[in-house]
Amino acid sequence: MVLYKAPRGTFDILPQDHAYWKFVKEKAVEICRLYGYQPLSTPVFEDARLFTRAIVQGTDIVDKEMYVFKDRSGQELALRAEGTAPVCRAYIEHGLFNLPQPVKLYYFASAFRYERPQAGRFRQHHQFGFEALGEADPALDAEVIEMAQRFFLSLGLSDFSIQINSIGCRSCRPGYLELLKQHYAKYRNHLCSDCQSRLARNPLRLLDCKRASCQQIAQSAPQIALYLCSQCQLHFQNVQRYLTVLNIPFELNHRLVRGLDYYTRTVFEVEPRETTGQGTLGGGGRYDNLIEDLGGKPTPGVGFATGLERIILNLKKQEVKIPESPKPMAFIAWVGEAAKIQGLRLASSLRAAQLSVIMGTGDKSLKTQLRHADSLGVSYVVIIGEKELADNSVVLREMKYGTQKTLPLGQLIQILKESRI
Ligand code: HAM
Repeated sequence: MVLYKAPRGTFDILPQDHAYWKFVKEKAVEICRLYGYQPLSTPVFEDARLFTRAIVQGTDIVDKEMYVFKDRSGQELALRAEGTAPVCRAYIEHGLFNLPQPVKLYYFASAFRYERPQAGRFRQHHQFGFEALGEADPALDAEVIEMAQRFFLSLGLSDFSIQINSIGCRSCRPGYLELLKQHYAKYRNHLCSDCQSRLARNPLRLLDCKRASCQQIAQSAPQIALYLCSQCQLHFQNVQRYLTVLNIPFELNHRLVRGLDYYTRTVFEVEPRETTGQGTLGGGGRYDNLIEDLGGKPTPGVGFATGLERIILNLKKQEVKIPESPKPMAFIAWVGEAAKIQGLRLASSLRAAQLSVIMGTGDKSLKTQLRHADSLGVSYVVIIGEKELADNSVVLREMKYGTQKTLPLGQLIQILKESRI
């Protein structure tokens, strides 16, 4: 019986899966290089108010999902629930507004949400995200969307759609929300219990309810695009114009509202075409009030984040081939204590020469050591026995062909280096 298990909704990433993680992270870093984004790392926990202020009460994340705790000094902290608010906090704290704008930052960050675990939905997940701070130009929205698209394409994923919407700003949204509330109030008794409370606390989220009965009501709801102020309208038109210029296929989705409350104007999501309940691949948008809400000067921002677990799920589902992890080059097998000493020295000098080596350990027979070497997938086994010790040689076995030859110990490094691809 296993005494301890990883907490519900969390998981271990075993070595065989790390090839996927490495592949995705390398592509992410590459895309950030192409678009001029710099890395930023933030703490795994923050002042809890950072998230309640940014994401806002009335959202599932703040109301039901945040991991909040008091530390020993009584300060209320929260595990990182998402990546954007901490980036904005760091932008303000370190005076990054003094740099030429926009400041472009990316991150890999674990995020914690107390959700009901299911395929692609965890309580600890890992995000790759990027944020461009200090610029309101709709061309930047289009560029962020293009960057997300190019990232997924570079991974070999192609079966997704990009959905966009504009949810307006603080001057035009309140009028729309009134209309939305009036519409939903007519169906109050048909709403699920979550939507009943959304109606009072966060009406925009009504549009996002996944229940069939609530979706039906959403279908006839007023569309926000028709109630945008003229600046928001122009901004949204320009986002679409630039996306068209860039040849990015997108779908307008009038019901797209996102699960966090800091967004203004552009919101977008990347949806796998075959969803089977795993949720969106990634999402983002503009948040022109967030930095000010967090105590900074009025500063626009736009960004995107995607969950690495969902990407990997889709890579597996779409059977994308990823590069294999490199195997160690050689295994050193030995027989007897004196050969073991020789093997230890040899392993150390091979590693100093940048060759990756596994040294046999324990008191195992030569046969067991060879079997172990085979299971590790090494190209060579170096064997040291009594005879090799006596004449300062080694036996070099090439695993692919099952052939072996004896050579002077002093030549081994050179020979292995030459055979290295
Ligand atoms: P989000 O949509 O909450 O947005 O999360 C971004 C992505 O993280 C999702 O699209 C999904 O791939 C992944 N994700 C979210 N929750 C889970 C979960 N429980 N399990 C597995 N994966 C999950 C944000 O967090 C915003 N900060 C995105 C953003 C950046 N907006 C502007 N800039």
